[in-house]
Amino acid sequence: MPISPKSASLRAREICALAPIVPVLVVKDIAHARPLAEALVAGGLPALEVTLRTPAALDVIAEMARVKGGVVGAGTLLTPQDVRDARAAGATFGVSPGATDALLEACEAEGLPLLPGAATASEAMRLLARGYDMLKFFPAGAAGGADMLKSWASPLPQISFCPTGGVNLANASTYLSLANVACAGGSWVAPSALIAQGRWDEIETLARNASQLER
Ligand code: 3PG
Repeated sequence: MPISPKSASLRAREICALAPIVPVLVVKDIAHARPLAEALVAGGLPALEVTLRTPAALDVIAEMARVKGGVVGAGTLLTPQDVRDARAAGATFGVSPGATDALLEACEAEGLPLLPGAATASEAMRLLARGYDMLKFFPAGAAGGADMLKSWASPLPQISFCPTGGVNLANASTYLSLANVACAGGSWVAPSALIAQGRWDEIETLARNASQLER
C-alpha cells in the first residue's frame, strides 16, 4: 500500500524513538546476520539499518527480519530497484544518503517509510515541502556536525534529524542533546572486525553502552 511522506516521517519518528542509536550495518556473510541482530537487540538497539553495500545484504535483511524484537530497515537506498528489492526482502523502513524524486516516488509507491538524507538547508527544505520532516543528516561530521544542526533548529523547527556519518560514543551525546535530534546512526556499535570474528558478546556490550546514551 502506498504511503504519504507525512506518514513515512511519522513512522520514521517512531523508529527513531526506539533507541538513541540506529546501528549502520555492513554485513558480508549471511551466517552473521542472526547472531549480529540478536546481539544488537539484546543490547537495547532494536532498530537496525542494513546497508545495501554487500552482495549478501538482501538475504541479511530477510534473516534479520526474523529476529524477535528487531525492526529491520535497508540503508544506502539509491534507486527505485533498491526500494523494491529491500521491500521484497522484508525491510520495514528505508534510509538513503540523499534524495532523488525517483527514489522518493518509489518509496511512497511501495509503502516503504523512508528516512531520506539531507546535508544542506535547501535539501532539507525540498524534503519538507514534499512532506518529510524526519530526515537523516548525512554525512553529519563532514557536513558541519552538531553546530550545523543547532543552526538549523531555529529556521527549520519542524524538522527532526538522525545525524549519521562520523558519529561515535564520544560525540553522540552532543548530537543527542539537541532539540532537533531524534536519534543518531552509526557503525561503531558493529565494527567489521568484531563481526568477522563473531565476537557477539562484545557487540552486545557496545550496543548496551550506546542504548544508555541520554537524549
Ligand atoms: C555510513 O554511511 O556508513 C554511515 O553514515 C555510517 O557512518 P559511520 O561509519 O561514520 O558511523
